[in-house]
Amino acid sequence: MLFKQQVLLRQKLFVLGSLAIGSLLYLVARVGSLDRLQPLCPIDSRFGPRGQDEIPLRALQFKRGLLHEFRKGNATKEQIQLHNLAIIIGVRKGGTRALLEMLNLHPAVVKASQEIHFFDNDENYAKGIEWYRKKMPFSYPHQITIEKSPAYFITEEVPERIYKMNSSIKLLIIVREPTTRAISDYTQVLEGKERKNKTYYKFEKLAIDPNTCEVNTKYKAVRTSIYTKHLERWLKYFPIEQFHIVDGDRLITEPLPELQLVEKFLNLPPRISQYNLYFNATRGFYCLRFNIVFNKCLAGSKGRIHPEVDTSVITKLRKFFHPFNQKFYQITGRTFNWP
Ligand code: A3P
Repeated sequence: MLFKQQVLLRQKLFVLGSLAIGSLLYLVARVGSLDRLQPLCPIDSRFGPRGQDEIPLRALQFKRGLLHEFRKGNATKEQIQLHNLAIIIGVRKGGTRALLEMLNLHPAVVKASQEIHFFDNDENYAKGIEWYRKKMPFSYPHQITIEKSPAYFITEEVPERIYKMNSSIKLLIIVREPTTRAISDYTQVLEGKERKNKTYYKFEKLAIDPNTCEVNTKYKAVRTSIYTKHLERWLKYFPIEQFHIVDGDRLITEPLPELQLVEKFLNLPPRISQYNLYFNATRGFYCLRFNIVFNKCLAGSKGRIHPEVDTSVITKLRKFFHPFNQKFYQITGRTFNWP
């Protein structure tokens, strides 16, 4: 009889203990994610005619958090202020998504999840700055909003358009060794063609002009990797101090120091730590840890296997990029060990 009571007591304790641990885990997840909430719709429509039922759960949680802050007097009902904006302007395949997601680990950073393509797309640009503002996530006044649209870096009209919006904006450029970046660019296009069951040229055929046997400077993947040419266009509008260059190759192998440099550039207190970044051997990349419950890796489209490229073509490309790289180092004050 006594033994039976003891067993019952133990079972009760076990259930109570499990409940307590479950609640604790839930609370940790909730607190962690509240920090990071990315409301899904612009502030105007939140307080507009939209029905409560239509508000996505994450937006609703944010709204509650915001109301709480209102009551405490710590927040204003403010939409994003465009002077609190920083933009990752490029470079395509440099690691722009990884950079944005990793910066989003910082509690004072809010990311625009989608590429907005406001300044590079004439149709979007014609919709006006309010359209752009409404595409942005909500943020508290002390936060910085970051958007990334890598097409900005190479599009002629963009520097002037951004300058007209905010001449003192901070701009981030993430670069990778130019030949690797060009191959990564090619790989992305190739994958798109294969998905549509289309055939495509080999990289070698596109990158080298068959008539001259020289590097084909008309090939977009090559042109995009001539970083200095694009940067020089930007420098007609912004001083070099307004740019921060991120080493995309180092962001892959050793992300934390690169992120700490960005924190400094954006005048953010250092908050991203090694705890937030863990190496996932299956993915072969660093993944993000927000708290003990919530972590994530980037999508499978980031970190594709590149096709093998003829070594003579790689050598030719590296030789071609070399003088442009030297100029890029000189202008930016950041030297990379690119061959
Ligand atoms: P590859 O697919 O060539 O490997 P972008 O986001 O600008 O398109 O850049 C994609 C590149 O980001 C990938 O190129 C990958 O190498 C790089 N990258 C950097 N950090 C990464 C990470 N933690 N997870 C996945 N990809 C990462």
